Amino acid sequence: MNKMLNKYMLKFDREHIWHPYTSMKDPLTVYPVVSAKGVRITLQDGRELIDGMSSWWAAIHGYNNPELNEAIYHQTADMAHVMFGGLTHRPAIELSALLIDITPEPLQKVFFSDSGSVSVEVAIKMAVQYWAARGYGKKQRLLTVRSGYHGDTLGAMSVSDTVIGMHHLFGDILARQYFADSPGCGYHDKWNEEDIQSLKTILREHHEEIAAIIMEPIVQGAGGMRFYSPQYLRRVRELSYEFNVLLILDEIATGFGRTGSMFACEKAGISPDIMCVGKALTGGYMSLAATLTTKEVSDGISSGETGYFMHGPTFMANPLACSVAVASIKLLLSSPWKERIVAIESHLARELDSCRGFPHVRDVRVLGAIGVVEMRRPVEMARIQEEFVNKGVWLRPFGKLVYTMPPYIINEEDLTLITTAMTEVVKGVGKE
Ligand SMILES: Cc1ncc(COP(=O)(O)O)c(C=O)c1O
Repeated sequence: MNKMLNKYMLKFDREHIWHPYTSMKDPLTVYPVVSAKGVRITLQDGRELIDGMSSWWAAIHGYNNPELNEAIYHQTADMAHVMFGGLTHRPAIELSALLIDITPEPLQKVFFSDSGSVSVEVAIKMAVQYWAARGYGKKQRLLTVRSGYHGDTLGAMSVSDTVIGMHHLFGDILARQYFADSPGCGYHDKWNEEDIQSLKTILREHHEEIAAIIMEPIVQGAGGMRFYSPQYLRRVRELSYEFNVLLILDEIATGFGRTGSMFACEKAGISPDIMCVGKALTGGYMSLAATLTTKEVSDGISSGETGYFMHGPTFMANPLACSVAVASIKLLLSSPWKERIVAIESHLARELDSCRGFPHVRDVRVLGAIGVVEMRRPVEMARIQEEFVNKGVWLRPFGKLVYTMPPYIINEEDLTLITTAMTEVVKGVGKE
């Protein structure tokens, strides 16, 4: 099949196809890709880019992995899809068993959906339906922290940062939620109990209306790439018990090893009542997400007015997506993933350290396979991206952040190409 894009196709793309977060009138450059293998993305003009993004933090095994490809080919021959209402299949059962096995013990019930944002909608609805079933119909609001991000659908947006998510544009269509200050203690900082006061005050005053606290564990991703203290999360868990609210943890970005633990909540030694996973679930091959919960929550919902949970997407538990997810998790578990993340972490910490010396750099932080250089001012994304492409690296900075989340299979040499490009580009920004 001809993979090349001619100039008419590219013109069509510019005129008719939305790309994320770019203008339709004056769209930012898009680079035509013809293939991707391992950690390399090949552009139509023949250039190869080392991938420092894992396609928005999902492609943990790199691209075109033979085992993941195989899983899809095989499954296609059996069936690409069947509805999940009234039918079931082996890929969904195998995947659920794996997820129950690798997530914290109390999470025993799995609900599949299409994307991370939808799994967050599902989590919110589960919390509200659980309390309604138990006779607490007033508990319909969510509590979260500033600088969070949970997706782009309306419910997920309502619990994402109000400023970054530009809530003012959407007026009353967004549900009003409670926002506590974002965690101030960094991952390695000494714990200060003051840090949790804002959240505690809201809980004390409004717990009767609050169904759940929702947070990204340890890493606040798209809302600022901030790493916070595990003690914050432990305190949130304690307070959720004290004030009778559920805890939803959004592990969509952090799940499957990214921080060096299989799930980031393990760093705090806690378990949520509801957990969302997505992104790396399928090794970045297909869109699939899951919302896991406890027997207590599922029993509660099932004893309520309807007797069932009010959600059921058309492509729920799509067999192709489930089978590639099974292959991806097995591949991860059979790989030395922890050692790889430790090696990536020390490599990033060592090689990004010199960026601290630049006056226009506010902070450099590394956790697991996440390396972040935070600038004092927002960077010009399109221009900087072009500089990275010219250096043979694929990175997509946003706001004040130049960061990498490479595939776990990246070798030292390729990782050095990424960190060198980051250091040079960041240095150049200061010369303007
Ligand atoms: C923590 C978190 N939650 C939810 C989402 C939304 O996932 P999706 O883009 O698959 O809807 C993202 C995406 O970046 C995320 O980082």
